Amino acid sequence: MLPEPPQCTFASDNTSGASPEVLEALCGANEGYSIAYGDDRHTSDLRTAMNALFDREVSTFLAWGGTGANIVGLQALIRPWQGVICTQSSHINVDECGAPERFLGSKLIDVPSPNAKLSAAQISDQLGVLGVVHHVQPGAVSITQSTEYGTVYSVKELKEIVDVAHQAGLRVHMDGARIANAAVALGCDVASFTSEVGIDILSFGGTKNGMVYGEAIIVFDPSLSEAVEYLQKQSAQLPSKMRFIAAQFLAMLNDDLWLDQARHANEMAALLSERISSISEVTITQPTQANAVFATLPKEAISRLQEWTPFYTWEGDNEVRWMTSFSTKASDVEILAEGIKTVLGE
Ligand SMILES: Cc1ncc(COP(=O)(O)O)c(C=O)c1O
Repeated sequence: MLPEPPQCTFASDNTSGASPEVLEALCGANEGYSIAYGDDRHTSDLRTAMNALFDREVSTFLAWGGTGANIVGLQALIRPWQGVICTQSSHINVDECGAPERFLGSKLIDVPSPNAKLSAAQISDQLGVLGVVHHVQPGAVSITQSTEYGTVYSVKELKEIVDVAHQAGLRVHMDGARIANAAVALGCDVASFTSEVGIDILSFGGTKNGMVYGEAIIVFDPSLSEAVEYLQKQSAQLPSKMRFIAAQFLAMLNDDLWLDQARHANEMAALLSERISSISEVTITQPTQANAVFATLPKEAISRLQEWTPFYTWEGDNEVRWMTSFSTKASDVEILAEGIKTVLGE
């Protein structure tokens, strides 16, 4: 018999609430009055904190959400005749309702990838059309770190990607909705796999890691900052009461809360992976490097488990994704693993 279902869900890290520090920061930011649209103390403090985090002057813009941050950043990187190279499974390609194509007015050049990562070689393969007027011109590359499949680019892989892109005159955007999970997985500071490898614009995620809402657009190339400022407003991504997003990010950066939360999420995914890896009818399909576990199991078992606790199926009808977050409890991971074993008769 199945045990009582887990108290949390493994459907997405987005299903968790916000961390107490973030909620407290929201209440703190509620005191008094502030000039709107970012001309406030919290946003100014956050800009200073981001400069310190990246150990250089960066331009920090705050957006409502991840799709918004992505479309603002990408618009700044390409011209109307250019397209964006990305993976087929990227969030910008499959989960943003065509917002990038609509706002950019350009083509996404989507490349198949079994682990949701692009390689420098795959980018090179797309460059043969450069200079041919009949073809969409690759103008930027967008990569996701950590990826939609919970995998993580190494610093070396990122350097190779940026080198091949920049040498051909392409810009590089990083969708960092889960950048904290990547930083923890790589065990290095965030600058070493973003600004220092030459990423041009980064969407810096907050929501999935314990904020209520809000993402940052970090512009590393100063020549792009002015464009981002106007594009942000034009794309409806300029929140008037910006201090509430800034205050949340400040709480996350304080004492490295953002890394501690992501570390916990990653550890919970590793624990789940470890607990289910020996089940004979379960195959882990992606390396568990961040906060997601992908696995195949018999179809009938998936339906029974989904009646018990919510989660999503993925490729085909026998692959599933289980996601962990900053608030996932180890006891809930044990319950999920127990449930999977029970359903499979182990
Ligand atoms: C890789 C990735 N990028 C961006 C987003 C941001 O999406 P939203 O617009 O829902 O904040 C998500 C959310 O699931 C995501 O997984």
